[in-house]
Amino acid sequence: MADDQHQTPTEQQTAGHRSPHAEEHTGGQQSSMAVDRTWWKEAIVYQIYPRSFNDTDGDGIGDIPGIIEKLDYLDELGVDIVWINPVYESPLADAGYDISDYRAIHPQYGTMADWERLLESLHERGIRLIMDLVVNHTSDEHFWFRQARKSCDNEYHDYYIWHPGTEEGPPTNWTSAFGGPAWEYDEVVGKYYLHLFDEKQPDLNWENPEVREEIYEMMTWWFEKGIDGFRMDVIDLLSKPRDFPDGDPSQEWVGIEHFGGGPRIDEYLSEMHDRVLDKYDCLTVGETVSVGVDDADQYAGPAGPLDMLFHFEHVTLDYGKQGWWTVRDWDLPEFKSVFTRWQNQFDGWNALYLTNHDQPRIVSRFGDEAHRRKSATLLATFLLTLRGTPFIYQGQELGMTNYPFDSLAELHDAQAVGNVQSAIEADVIENFEEVRDLVRYRTRDNTRTPMQWSGEANAGFTTGDPWLPVNPDYEKVNVERERADPDSVFNFYRDLVALRDEHDELVYGEYHLLLPDHERIYAYTRTLEDRCALVLLNFAAGKTTVTVPDVTPSAAELLLGNYGTPADLPGTQCGHHDSFTLRPYEARVYRLD
Ligand code: GLC
Repeated sequence: MADDQHQTPTEQQTAGHRSPHAEEHTGGQQSSMAVDRTWWKEAIVYQIYPRSFNDTDGDGIGDIPGIIEKLDYLDELGVDIVWINPVYESPLADAGYDISDYRAIHPQYGTMADWERLLESLHERGIRLIMDLVVNHTSDEHFWFRQARKSCDNEYHDYYIWHPGTEEGPPTNWTSAFGGPAWEYDEVVGKYYLHLFDEKQPDLNWENPEVREEIYEMMTWWFEKGIDGFRMDVIDLLSKPRDFPDGDPSQEWVGIEHFGGGPRIDEYLSEMHDRVLDKYDCLTVGETVSVGVDDADQYAGPAGPLDMLFHFEHVTLDYGKQGWWTVRDWDLPEFKSVFTRWQNQFDGWNALYLTNHDQPRIVSRFGDEAHRRKSATLLATFLLTLRGTPFIYQGQELGMTNYPFDSLAELHDAQAVGNVQSAIEADVIENFEEVRDLVRYRTRDNTRTPMQWSGEANAGFTTGDPWLPVNPDYEKVNVERERADPDSVFNFYRDLVALRDEHDELVYGEYHLLLPDHERIYAYTRTLEDRCALVLLNFAAGKTTVTVPDVTPSAAELLLGNYGTPADLPGTQCGHHDSFTLRPYEARVYRLD
C-alpha cells in the first residue's frame, strides 16, 4: 500500500494505539509499523447543513445555537469531525455559497460569539470542526465586487474575470452550472464578468496575486481562530485559461474541459499549501467536479497539496445522455467498478460519501424506499467498511428519504430552479410539470429539508414555519424514535462506528473486490496484516444465495449484520455449507481467519 512507503523512522518509533474519539485534541500523527496513521484517516465526519439542522429562535431557519444544543446527539452517534456548510454573511442566492463577508457570521445563524462557543464545545468533546471554503467566487454583494463593478480603474476591478466580449456577444460559449450562459454583461463597466454558477456568484480572478494573498490571509485568520480544516468548494475550478477558448458544446457543462483543472491549478494549490495549510495540523478535502482517478494524485495523492477529495463518479452514474436532465439506469457491476477503481488505483486517501447537500437522499437513490430501513443500513455498512474517511450527511443516520416536491414554487435550490427556468426560456420545455418527476428525484432540496428530531410539529426542528417543508414521513422517521428502537438505522450506525473503531482492518486494510460481475451481491475483503474482514452486501429486494471464492461460511465469524445478531444466523444459511444466503438488502461483516 502507498501508505506504507511514506513512513519516517521517527513515525515508526512513535507507534500508538488508535482511539480517535477519546483522543486528546492535540492533533499530530500517530504511526505503527504497518500503516501511516493520521487522525483524519481514522475519523468519521458528520456533515451539518446548519440551515436545516435545528432552529432555536423560531424563525424557521436552523442556527448555530441549534447545533450546540445537539452536540450530545453527535457524541452519541460517535463522530469525530463536524463539517458545517457556509454560515458566513451572504445574500443567500445559493444558500450561502455566495459569500459577501468571509469573516462574519450571517445573523440568521447567530453571532461570532455563538460560533466560538460551538468550536469550544466541540473541542471539549474531542470533536473537530471543519469549515467550508468558497473561493472560486464571491457574492456580487461582496465589497470587492461592489468596488470592481464601479469602473475598470477601480483597484478591485481585477479581482474578478472581465472580458469585453466578441462581436457575437459573450466571450465564450461556457455555461453556468445553474443553466444559461456563464457570462453576464455589466452596463457600467461595459464588459462581461464570468460566473460559473449563479450570476450573483462572480468568479474570482486567481491570476491576480492580490486575490490569492487576500484568500490566504482569510484562511489563516480562521485557522488562528482554531478550526481544524476546510472542505474546499469546487476547488478544481480556480484556474481559467486566459485565452478563453470555446468549450465543446456537447458537454453538459460547456467549457469544463478548460476550467476544470485549468492551466495554473497545481501552482495555486501548492502555493496555498505552502503559505497556509502546511502550517497547521489540519484536514483538507477538496470538492473536485472534474477530477478522475488518473488526475486525482495531483490534488490529493501522497505528495498532493490536499488530504482528500470528493470526486463525482458515483453520483453521476445515474446521469443519462443529457446529464442532469436524464436519469439512466445503472447496474451493480458498474457501481462496483467505480468504487473499486478509487479504492485500488488512487494513491491518496479516499473521502467516502454517498450524499451531501447537493445530492438526493441515498435510500431514494442507491437504496429502495420500499425497504427503507434495510437499504439504509446496507448503504451504511458499505460506507463505513470501505477504505477512506466516511462522511455522513445529517439525516442519513435516520434513513431519511427524498421529499415529494410538487411545484417549482416549493423549491429553493438555485440549480433546479435555474435549470428549469433556463429550459423554459429557451423553449426546451413548456412548464415545470413536464419535468416534475425528474426534478423531484434530482433536486438538492431533497437533502435540505429539515432534520427530523421528533414526531412533534415540524419534526421538532422549529417552532416557526420551516424554510423548506418537513418530509411527511417525519412521524415515522425521527431521532426520538430511532434512538429508542434498538433495531433502528441510527443504532446500526452507532454499531458500525464502534466496529470501525475496534477493527483497524476496516480503516487501513487493503480492499479486494470479490465477484466483480455479480448483479446483486457486492462482496469485498479488507485485509491488514493477519486480520481480514469480509463484507457481503445484497443490493437486491430479493433473497440471494452466493458462493464466495475461498470462503466457507462456517469459518466466517459474523461481526455485524443488519438482520440481527449471530444468534439469528444458522437458519439463514439454508443448510448450504458452501454458500451464503442473504435476505433483501442484507448486509454482513465477517471476520475471516
Ligand atoms: C459546490 C457546493 C454547492 C454550490 C456550488 C457553488 O458544488 O457544494 O452547493 O452551489 O459549489 O458554490
